[in-house]
Amino acid sequence: MAPKLCWIGLGNMGRGMCKNVVKKADVQHPVLIYNRTKQKAVEFSTMFEDGEVEIVDSMAAGVAKADVIFTILAKDDVVEAVVDDILGSVDVKGKLFVDCSTIHPDTTVRVSKRFVDAGAEFVAAPVFGAPAMGEIGQLVGVLAGPKESVQKARAYFKGVMAKAEIGMSDLPYEKALQLKLIGNTFILNMVEQISEGLVLSEKAGLGTKYLYDFIHLIFPGLFAAYADRILSGKYHTMDYPLFPVDLAIKDARHALSLAETAGVRMGNLDVGMAHLQEVKQHQGEKGDIASIYGAIRAQAGLNWSVVIGLVIVIAMCVAAWFFSPKGENQVLWRSSIILSIASCYLMWAVTFLAQLHPLIEPRRSDLRKEYIHH
Ligand SMILES: NC(=O)c1ccc[n+]([C@@H]2O[C@H](COP(=O)([O-])OP(=O)(O)OC[C@H]3O[C@@H](n4cnc5c(N)ncnc54)[C@H](OP(=O)(O)O)[C@@H]3O)[C@@H](O)[C@H]2O)c1
Repeated sequence: MAPKLCWIGLGNMGRGMCKNVVKKADVQHPVLIYNRTKQKAVEFSTMFEDGEVEIVDSMAAGVAKADVIFTILAKDDVVEAVVDDILGSVDVKGKLFVDCSTIHPDTTVRVSKRFVDAGAEFVAAPVFGAPAMGEIGQLVGVLAGPKESVQKARAYFKGVMAKAEIGMSDLPYEKALQLKLIGNTFILNMVEQISEGLVLSEKAGLGTKYLYDFIHLIFPGLFAAYADRILSGKYHTMDYPLFPVDLAIKDARHALSLAETAGVRMGNLDVGMAHLQEVKQHQGEKGDIASIYGAIRAQAGLNWSVVIGLVIVIAMCVAAWFFSPKGENQVLWRSSIILSIASCYLMWAVTFLAQLHPLIEPRRSDLRKEYIHH
């Protein structure tokens, strides 16, 4: 008989991953689902047909009935608290736990030991890919742990939640998390690179269109997707960030700790971390990793353009006042010229005013189609 499955964690990543497991994997229905905020589980369950999923009121209730338990949770202390809860209330002997959370390798070592000591099997299985990739089953899973356990967990990855697997069968659990953290430094550095490039293009007078085209042609895929996300400003209008700044800071912090232990200096990571801290300060937990673009824009002084424009416009108005043709129509000339200048400035300023807070609203690229990305 197909295994009974319990899914714990229906955040941005968990929802898409769980959906694919319910729809594509060989599992016994209903799949049991649990999320701390029950409302999310309720909303999530509406996409399924009757009997495909069942919301459980507690993790213990779900774990007790399941053979295989997936967890994908925000951060280390949450994972440890969930493990406390499960081990404190359920006999886990013979069950398989697959943790997809991105946590510190040392945390995985602790957690896995507790499960194994209690007679369960454990697989560390962090995943690469954004929520949109999770939604369409295109993640890349990194599976580490005893060969037999990895073999069992594998059934839910390639062809279900993932397009591929980086196999670490029989390797210690922590290796999967080391790779995940080092891999995530690539994402952070990529966002930094795209953001710096776009800000420089804009400030140097090149405009962003050509760099945008370059990114799409030379670095299609993730680079292009992030360039779209950054330039469209979508990350500011979403109710919930796709890659929340808190998670990005957690990943960067873990990677820095890994580097320190290994005696390696990660200069790029220091820079990225500083920008993430600025995003966090400015936007709180609603900040997204893509807001790094705003932090770099602010540093580059792009938010001063409205003030500089105002000074120029005032100078033009003064000139119009003094150089308007004399005579009975002078008042008409003055008011027409000054009003025209002021109106033009206002039109321009309204477009750019948003940039006074570039972390909140980076740019309007949707005013006229032909000017998108200029
Ligand atoms: N987002 C990405 O691009 C991405 C990509 C790959 C891997 N990851 C990793 O995948 C994991 C989940 O990421 P995500 O984007 O899905 O995050 P998320 O949307 O913030 O979801 C976090 C999940 O953890 C739960 N949670 C948080 N605090 C909790 C607590 N104190 N007790 C119980 N449950 C708690 C949340 O429940 P509530 O709904 O109740 O808050 C939610 O189910 C993280 O480790 C992240 O680093 C993320």
